[in-house]
Amino acid sequence: MKVLVIGRGGREHSLVQKFAKSPQVSQVYAAPGNAGMEEQAECLPITETDHEQLVKFAKEQQVDLTFVGPENPLLEGIVDSFKQAELKVFGPTKSAALIEGSKHFAKQLMHKYDIPTAEYAAFTDAEKAKKYLREKGAPIVIKADGLAAGKGVVVAETIEQAIQAVEDMLLDHQFGEASSEIVIEEFLEGEEYSLMAFVHGENVYPMVTARDHKRAYENDEGPNTGGMGAFAPSRVVTEETYQYAVDHILIPTARALIEEDRSFTGILYAGLIQTEQGPKVIEFNARFGDPETQVVLPLLENDLVQVIMDVLDNKDPKLRFSKEACAGVVVASAGYPGPYEKGVQLPKWNRETEVFSIHAGTKKDGANYVSDGGRVLLFGAKGKTLSDSLDKVYHTLEAFEPQDKFFYRKDIGRSVSVSSDQNIE
Ligand code: AMP
Ligand code: GLY
Repeated sequence: MKVLVIGRGGREHSLVQKFAKSPQVSQVYAAPGNAGMEEQAECLPITETDHEQLVKFAKEQQVDLTFVGPENPLLEGIVDSFKQAELKVFGPTKSAALIEGSKHFAKQLMHKYDIPTAEYAAFTDAEKAKKYLREKGAPIVIKADGLAAGKGVVVAETIEQAIQAVEDMLLDHQFGEASSEIVIEEFLEGEEYSLMAFVHGENVYPMVTARDHKRAYENDEGPNTGGMGAFAPSRVVTEETYQYAVDHILIPTARALIEEDRSFTGILYAGLIQTEQGPKVIEFNARFGDPETQVVLPLLENDLVQVIMDVLDNKDPKLRFSKEACAGVVVASAGYPGPYEKGVQLPKWNRETEVFSIHAGTKKDGANYVSDGGRVLLFGAKGKTLSDSLDKVYHTLEAFEPQDKFFYRKDIGRSVSVSSDQNIE
């Protein structure tokens, strides 16, 4: 089989690695891909959103399956284009991807179908929004309705911060069209985790949970980033909570989307928060999470191609996950998520067989890799326990220690509201 992966980040490198392992796959293509993928895939000079060229390539090369990584092409209807061309593709249509594309739509859906989430109201008028803020008080959460590259959420600790966020979004058009409407949401307290599932219509096949670390610096300080590391499974989810989240969140959401004539196929991602009343949704994504994918896929024991073929054929793929833990730590360019230098040569790291490397922002310069993005690499490892896997990863990361061009968080998997070390395993 020939498989095409659309995207260029760490998530897609992880997908490429997984597809390349399948005995059924003879060729993996990536569009546009990145330097790290070149070992396993042929990278094509076609960007993610060039639907026409992607469809043309898939037709001409008789690609058997296309997998779409990022949200932008999904929201622009790439799956619809592939389907129209009668090409096999795994991902939601434009209409189903709205669950990620509009926070207001997602909130309405959850409200209508009784899916646990924070209380909310949506606004286009700044004065009305401010009045609501004053009634509710802080802390409170303000979200741009549309896609804002992970930056459209402000957790305001004071009313002044909240008002500032409303003005930035509604009056100063901080995120353009994406913030012409906002959602104001009750602040929820608890440990966060991500729960992703393969979905086709009403069939839902959940994966192990994962936890990502969005803040740039240790102790969850500093600005939000695309993710500085992740581990799986989450430590706070008991079997009972997991089942609750599947039964009360994932399955009802898949059914609700069918009811609304937006039947979902692809990866449904629920960002959850473990409150005293149980798990509640803080966001939905219509795709694999990044960097969660990089730590969840290594635990998947099935052949990923077979899983997707089965799901598309309405067959239970019988997912099997290793009982191990998997952790991944991101190496970022100094300055990220603000301005940073590109083209910096990466130090040589120890290619221990147990530690895998995933490229996110690298380029080849002769025989060397140089940095080409904010998040550069992720190092990951499986282990009997989370501590074991973290020890392996941090050992390899020592190569990045003696210089100041890169940084990474030293507390991935170690910082999350766990007071005692005993809980780490
Ligand atoms: P989102 O992009 O919706 O995942 O939001 C980004 C981050 O903001 C989340 O990972 C949470 O840490 C935080 N957040 C979002 N919604 C809430 C909420 N209702 N209560 C508390 N924190 C939230
Ligand atoms: N890790 C969160 C996301 O992919 O949106």
